[in-house]
Amino acid sequence: MRETEQKAAKAYTEKFGGDPDLVASGPGRINLIGEHTDYNGGFVLPCAIDRRIAVAVGKGEGGLYSADFDETREAGEKDDSWADYPRGVAWAMEHGGYEIEAFKAAFAGDVPLGSGLSSSAAIETATALALDAFFGFDIGRKDLAVLCQRAENDYVGVASGVMDQYASLLCKAGAALLVDCRSLEATSVPLDLAAAGLALVVCDTRVERGLADTGYNDRRATCERAARTLGIEELRDARDEDLDRLSAQELKRARHVVSENARVLAAVEVLKNGDFDEFGRLMYASHASLRDDYEVSTPELDTFVETAKEHGAKGARLTGAGFGGCAIALVPQAQTDEATEACGRAFAEQDFEEPAFYEFVPAAGAELASG
Ligand code: GLA
Repeated sequence: MRETEQKAAKAYTEKFGGDPDLVASGPGRINLIGEHTDYNGGFVLPCAIDRRIAVAVGKGEGGLYSADFDETREAGEKDDSWADYPRGVAWAMEHGGYEIEAFKAAFAGDVPLGSGLSSSAAIETATALALDAFFGFDIGRKDLAVLCQRAENDYVGVASGVMDQYASLLCKAGAALLVDCRSLEATSVPLDLAAAGLALVVCDTRVERGLADTGYNDRRATCERAARTLGIEELRDARDEDLDRLSAQELKRARHVVSENARVLAAVEVLKNGDFDEFGRLMYASHASLRDDYEVSTPELDTFVETAKEHGAKGARLTGAGFGGCAIALVPQAQTDEATEACGRAFAEQDFEEPAFYEFVPAAGAELASG
């Protein structure tokens, strides 16, 4: 068992007594490229990270216990806490026709919370996989991802796309995942950064924002309006020449979506040839589009991207929804210290919060723990 899984199992025993019936865990994710495209029926290219949330489950009443917050919440009512994610998953399963009997669960994890690394997807997918196995539903990972998205959309109340839940359930170690968010087809894309002498540096700007209180839902609504203006179902179907028929915000948001979808497909092609120089250029272009057209960047995210660029990064961009959270950079291994130190200085000079840095390798998706 992984450390987080052991921690959840131990928390279960301390809180409820006895051993859990099973333990599962789900990872957070970063998105390499393809931002704000998922809810427009477009393409994304995330990978799972080696930070996870684990859940230990057993039969009967007892509530939901978080080892990280050291608190127990009732299984029942929505209360705008972390417990809404597992509650939402059970709710979505029941709505899908799966009968959930009373269960108790203990959670433990090491995904940084509220920093855009999808701790919410991690807790949802861990719960979904655990309940699926515990009650013997055999739902299948793609359908579980969609149930988790439903939990987030209709129970928690954030109109997120399907990317995070897909990444958390379907990613494989050593690979990114190309998802066509319309057909929901997912393809593993091998990503051996170490062999290319590169590292994936993540900068957590420590500007925390829950998606519920940002412009996320607003961006989504503008995209839907733009699609209606164009008479198409989703911006996935918009072409460059259609953009002439849009103006103001609808134009800017749609221009980002159209160009970003093209960048994802180009990125997958160049990755096949190991062309990280071009991959990096696509990352920079993605960031510029998110900053100027989608308007979801922040001074902190921009500072990281610019500083990383000055210190050897092949590419860098904000990752996830934006509005704070994390940015990533593809940096030659020999230059990671230089890049992060320079970024730390640039943050200090501007009186930003002190950032946290991580290095991740593409990790495995959600799993049932064994042993
Ligand atoms: C959040 C959402 C995702 C996706 C990204 C932006 O992470 O949960 O569905 O929309 O923002 O790409």
